[in-house]
Amino acid sequence: MLKFALIGAGRIGKMHSEIITSNPETELKFVYDLNREIAINVASISKAEVVNNPEEAINSNTTDAVLIASATPTHIEFIKMAANAGKPVLCEKPIDLDIIKVNKCREELKGIKSQIQIGFNRRFDLSHSKAQQARLKKEIGELEMIIITSRDPAAPGLDYLKACGGFFRDTTIHDFDLSRFILGEDPIVEVSAFGENLFDANVKTAKDFDTAMFILKSKSGVLIHINNSRRAVYGYDQRVEVFGSKGMVISNNQTPNSTERYTSSSTSSKDPIHFFFIERYQQAYKDQLNSFIETVKTNSRPKVTFEDGRKALIIANAAYESYKNKRTVEIKYD
Ligand SMILES: NC(=O)c1ccc[n+]([C@@H]2O[C@H](COP(=O)([O-])OP(=O)(O)OC[C@H]3O[C@@H](n4cnc5c(N)ncnc54)[C@H](O)[C@@H]3O)[C@@H](O)[C@H]2O)c1
Repeated sequence: MLKFALIGAGRIGKMHSEIITSNPETELKFVYDLNREIAINVASISKAEVVNNPEEAINSNTTDAVLIASATPTHIEFIKMAANAGKPVLCEKPIDLDIIKVNKCREELKGIKSQIQIGFNRRFDLSHSKAQQARLKKEIGELEMIIITSRDPAAPGLDYLKACGGFFRDTTIHDFDLSRFILGEDPIVEVSAFGENLFDANVKTAKDFDTAMFILKSKSGVLIHINNSRRAVYGYDQRVEVFGSKGMVISNNQTPNSTERYTSSSTSSKDPIHFFFIERYQQAYKDQLNSFIETVKTNSRPKVTFEDGRKALIIANAAYESYKNKRTVEIKYD
């Protein structure tokens, strides 16, 4: 039984606590959140212990692994704390918003043998990973294009928008990572980014975008298109198209069930698509944890590494540079 300390018990932390508690191989032992009430609420559901500081949770002899789901600017502090205590880490994306801090952390961790997995959950989605497998096995011949549509049902509130580090680093970072996952060894080398504020007043106040489009290019010449919106009235729109010389694979939107209705007034009407990430990627979050458990048990390399998190942030930063300077930007990973 792998015993977890959970750091951060907000929206996604609560979901992780439920997944840890329902997994037969894991147990939630400690919860720490800056907001004690939030920690108490989550801990009581999982019968875990609330602690007064992160050290108590992370350094405890009882703790086998640490799940970091606190606010983004705190991730590096807790990654280092866990790594120094010799505990494997599953940390939510992004590692941080500041690449200088991420690079410094990478240097500091160099001598330390630590397993750090970054929470790019979409890699564990069954239909997205089937699309990636089709590319790997050359079922679609030579890969030529990747098209990712990723639109949220509604924009978050102003507080979140002000703190999240901007649309590209907060949201598109998932799509940058998913593109890298599908491309495999073929690195993304160029990006052209466009962002607009078309409809959301809070987004405008936060000086962010609610609508964005990107064209990226890989070293071998694969072209990638990503489009994002903070508002899709029909739900959480998540589609991936992988196109090659021998065909294409589409990972499409999913509905909670596949029931079709046939009545005198309509036929084949489907349920709306999933509302948001917790519903749509529930299986992926569970498989992400299963993959992490396997990594710890076999003492192997995580499926999504610190370096994957670092590279996705570098692409996001290059996208901002592209937007700002109205030109295509070459991406360098060093
Ligand atoms: N992988 C995904 O699909 C996904 C989805 C949502 C959020 N996230 C990421 O998860 C993280 C949390 O996001 P959220 O939506 O749950 O936010 P949230 O605001 O709901 O929760 C964050 C929690 O962290 C706590 N916190 C802040 N500083 C802390 C500190 N120093 N020590 C301990 N706890 C602290 C807050 O009190 C809060 O309860 C962010 O990094 C976000 O980017 C990932």
